[in-house]
Amino acid sequence: MNIFEAIQNRHTVRAFTGEAVPRDDILKIVDAGRLAPTGYNIQPRHFIAITEEDTIQHLSKADEWIAEAGAVIAIVIDPARSDFTTEDASAAMENMLLALTALGYGGCWVEGDIEPHEAEFKRLLNIPAELKLFSLLPLGVPSGTPHENPKKPIDEVLKWETF
Ligand SMILES: Cc1cc2nc3c(=O)[nH]c(=O)nc-3n(C[C@H](O)[C@H](O)[C@H](O)COP(=O)(O)O)c2cc1C
Repeated sequence: MNIFEAIQNRHTVRAFTGEAVPRDDILKIVDAGRLAPTGYNIQPRHFIAITEEDTIQHLSKADEWIAEAGAVIAIVIDPARSDFTTEDASAAMENMLLALTALGYGGCWVEGDIEPHEAEFKRLLNIPAELKLFSLLPLGVPSGTPHENPKKPIDEVLKWETF
């Protein structure tokens, strides 16, 4: 799958078969996140690859469907090191979403739903106090066909030369 096909085929997936995701595939996906750009190349983010069933079950407190994910990748940022940690983590997240799509998996950017659980999840994942749990990326083999969220047409969002 080339990059344009991965962009077209990426849809949020919140239903998984429950199959585990092989370690090699998790490595490829996190590597895509690692290679994303960061402001001043500071790279103020870490990735936690979560494959243990108990931990995944615990994370499903944020969203029930996470329980069926084959793996979860957490993005952790270090806000003291850069003013651009949100953008840096977002670029990594999108790279990982495209990589997992190219490998035939589905996943979902989970950010809003973890906010009420951040302190608890930080303890669970042993994240140092000064760092922030930015988001979770539950992923797995999709169960069924993902729902396609309609996007605005190009004419509505693109202006040429001036606004
Ligand atoms: C910044 C951000 C935060 C999100 N947070 C959540 C979330 O907490 N829970 C969830 O189920 N989906 C979350 N999503 C997924 C969006 O709902 C989804 O991307 C959107 O509906 C568009 O669908 P698409 O990804 O298929 O294009 C988030 C997406 C983004 C970009």
